[in-house]
Amino acid sequence: MTTVVSLQSPRAPVDRRGRPMHDLRISVMDRCNFRCPYCMPKEAFGEGYRFLGTAERLSFAEITRLAGIFVSLGVQKLRLTGGEPLLRAGLQELVGDLAALPGVQDVALTTNGVLLARHAEELRAQGLGRVTVSLDSLDPRVFREMSGGFGDPADVLQGIDAALATGLAPVKVNCVVQRGVNDHTVLSLVEHFRGTRVVVRLIEYMDVGNRNHWDRSRVVPSSELHSLIDASWKLAPLAAGYRGEVAERYRFADGSGEIGFISSVTQPFCGACTRARLSSEGVLYTCLFATQGLDLRTPLRAGADDAALESLVRDAWLGRNDRYSEARAEPHAEDTRRKIEMYYIGG
Ligand code: GTP
Ligand code: 5AD
Ligand code: SF4
Ligand code: SF4
Repeated sequence: MTTVVSLQSPRAPVDRRGRPMHDLRISVMDRCNFRCPYCMPKEAFGEGYRFLGTAERLSFAEITRLAGIFVSLGVQKLRLTGGEPLLRAGLQELVGDLAALPGVQDVALTTNGVLLARHAEELRAQGLGRVTVSLDSLDPRVFREMSGGFGDPADVLQGIDAALATGLAPVKVNCVVQRGVNDHTVLSLVEHFRGTRVVVRLIEYMDVGNRNHWDRSRVVPSSELHSLIDASWKLAPLAAGYRGEVAERYRFADGSGEIGFISSVTQPFCGACTRARLSSEGVLYTCLFATQGLDLRTPLRAGADDAALESLVRDAWLGRNDRYSEARAEPHAEDTRRKIEMYYIGG
């Protein structure tokens, strides 16, 4: 008789659609040094905008404690996001604490890359396993149009090089593609990184939050980009790196590396979505497009023990029924709900 050994913790909850909780995305900072119009448009996030105060954000100790609870419920991957996570002073200390949690297999970071060159080495030394850098175009003018006027592709490239130099390879590059804005620079971005240890992922522009004036006509379907790239360099499909990976992977047939497409609009992937999200003020969201979350900071600061916090998180996951991107793709879908903002939940 064969014994089936489950790697899943016996305490691990499964949601109403049969999905376990495997990844936790932790936003450590709601501020950003960019104002990408598709995420934090300048007119909405100007001088007068009130971001969280320091005391409102979870401390590193609080984040580590909560992360430990998520890990006890089945989470194996942690990803630090923002806003811009490298604006949080001493982030490497948090990376060290998280990497040391028993059961954590992967600690990753998503950053706009401007401060990466300065911090790559210490992050790596503390146990960061992977880094993903947002880079929408190598054309300085287009880049600035998409960053709200901040930064320069050269700074981001330096950050990527620094990460590679520390051994953080492969580095992933995220490029949000918008029709009429940066779609004409996609091929040169792909060409630049072909044959390097950098994997470019092209992301369909999503209707996250309420402030980015999303319009379907701005979305470039991944199928279109696939054809465009395949016409220059033949692509061959690759198997997913892990169950529920958001990117569809392809390799260049000539052996010059790989590329990914993230197609949440035209090919939603809710069926395999195992991601939970924690905001920098300690609210748990079970979907990127959620309208409501569960405040964990209040019970945490009121002295709740681990069992009580675990029970809150477990119940939230057991009740989870989210499938926003799939529902959006259905005929006559209409969305009038107020969603959380991307900068606040970190994508
Ligand atoms: P790895 O596969 O672990 O490397 O990371 P990732 O691709 O999940 O993370 P990353 O932060 O690089 O996100 C890439 C893009 O996918 C961003 O635009 C995210 O907003 C988007 N994304 C990540 N997770 C989800 C999700 O659960 N739903 C949707 N709709 N989009 C997601
Ligand atoms: N659509 C798609 N991707 C987005 N990101 C930010 N806003 C959007 C959006 N509206 C990306 C960022 C970053 C990742 C976490 O999410 O560029 O790479
Ligand atoms: Fe900042 Fe990233 Fe949002 Fe751009 S997409 S404003 S870099 S958090
Ligand atoms: Fe997961 Fe929500 Fe994204 Fe669907 S829309 S993949 S449920 S985060």
